[in-house]
Amino acid sequence: MTFDRVPSHNRGVAPGHPWWRQAVVYQVYLRSFADGNGDGTGDIAGIRSRLPYLRSLGVDAIWINPWYVSPMNDGGYDVADYRAIDPQFGTMDEAIGLIEDAKRVGLQVLLDLVPNHTSSEHPWFKEALVSAPGSAARARYHFRPGRGPKGSRPPTNWAGMFGGSTWTRVADGEWYLHLFDQTQPDLNWSSPAVIAEHEDVIRFWLEKGAAGFRVDVANGLVKDPEYPDIGAEGVPVPYSDLDLLHDIVRDWRKVVDEYEAILVAEAWVESWDRLANYLRPDEYHQAFEFDFMQAPWDAEIMKGIIDAALIGSSGVGSAPTWVLSNHDIVRQVTRYALPQDVDARAWLLKGDRSLLDPGLGLRRARAAALLMLGLPGSAYLYQGEELGLPEVHDLPFEVLEDPTWVRSRHTRKGRDGCRVPLPWAASGSSFGFGRDGSWLPQPAEWSSLSVEAQDGVTGSTLELYREAIGLRSRYLVGTAEFGWVAAEGEVLVFDRGEVTVVVNFGADPVPLPHGEILITSIPADDGLLPSDGAAWLRPS
Ligand code: GLC
Repeated sequence: MTFDRVPSHNRGVAPGHPWWRQAVVYQVYLRSFADGNGDGTGDIAGIRSRLPYLRSLGVDAIWINPWYVSPMNDGGYDVADYRAIDPQFGTMDEAIGLIEDAKRVGLQVLLDLVPNHTSSEHPWFKEALVSAPGSAARARYHFRPGRGPKGSRPPTNWAGMFGGSTWTRVADGEWYLHLFDQTQPDLNWSSPAVIAEHEDVIRFWLEKGAAGFRVDVANGLVKDPEYPDIGAEGVPVPYSDLDLLHDIVRDWRKVVDEYEAILVAEAWVESWDRLANYLRPDEYHQAFEFDFMQAPWDAEIMKGIIDAALIGSSGVGSAPTWVLSNHDIVRQVTRYALPQDVDARAWLLKGDRSLLDPGLGLRRARAAALLMLGLPGSAYLYQGEELGLPEVHDLPFEVLEDPTWVRSRHTRKGRDGCRVPLPWAASGSSFGFGRDGSWLPQPAEWSSLSVEAQDGVTGSTLELYREAIGLRSRYLVGTAEFGWVAAEGEVLVFDRGEVTVVVNFGADPVPLPHGEILITSIPADDGLLPSDGAAWLRPS
């Protein structure tokens, strides 16, 4: 396969617009992207070998999930050394080589910053464990006495994100906080040592050429120092979206500004009133629009979300960052294939499989891609969505690695199904992912979804994405103003400069406006856009 026919990035960015403002960023889930050394796990060598592919997609940047030294209890979000590459992914030389190679072909490289917690294998945590209660080593984390007689009850009633309690007791009787797995102790961001360390880590990677960071658990850094119970009257969630966290971000922003780098927030917050705070001019450059990602396939709901995002972000002089999936949620082809009132995450474990309509899911996912790429702001693609990959919902229990599975006591299947390694070739061991199998099994049907099977094939999902990204840079980036044309009933129509975007959420075909059709997600014969289709056109 050769992939050199798509021209360089950013060709549509108007002067004065920074590259990230309207960028398309491709999320590389490192473990599952491409395996260069044949050990079944993706690695840096794999990414380097696939740069021509990324370039051929026309994206502006990649975001790479954590590549730091880690015991991998949470897919690398349990960092034991923030300044070293985990040997299973490669070496520091390879990491620097990748950043340089990527830049050479016009791709910026964003890294993952994991500041909320370390691994329990991090030297700081090991030191904390052997230090006394009240020591400086413990002050870098949240160590607390327990409640009740002999302190045998956890300090609060908080429930962990993966299930179970957020507290684990250590030998001397104190408890430490972990919003996630017990091997991911939360750092205490009121500790000056924690603040200084992360500033240094940020500089370390910016010096190596990183273009910025996606910041993990951006809403969780600061905890209420009173550690109130959750649900206590009048008390907001004591570990999420606390105002004080913005001081930390402002300090980071000063550092990244020195390098003209960017910060992207993974902030799960209640509303745009709150998310906009993260996008103030001296804070994050981007913050993922998760409402859009989680929305059912419904015109009215989508419109409400789009309006809220456009209004909320412009209020702080920013723009939305759209995303349809990532390594934490059920892939959109599967979400849209289920009745829209079914909770896809719960369905994974024991939902009725006959509810699934894969053809419908793919149709909607393709339309959603044209919707997302047609909107103002930036967009993040999750690896494999450009191939139309579904969630692998039937992974056998014994291969599951997500800590969610164990911590939820087998009541939530977890996120492995969206992390299955990419199929590059239509045949062969692990469909070209690596030389010798893959850390999660790929379904046999992925042969026909492989890059090889779709490359150059008119109408394939891969070609749809390539074409849409190309057209986006040509027509929609820069000063293409947004305006609703029609947004009632089950059809959304909006203008972006000289282009009109039409998305049909309804059951019946709708007539397209007259004009030159640039792209459709589904064949639109006789000027009719079928159900669950989308089109971009230039009206005449
Ligand atoms: C974020 C990551 C997720 C991880 C969690 C804990 O939500 O995206 O994968 O498990 O943080 O670090």
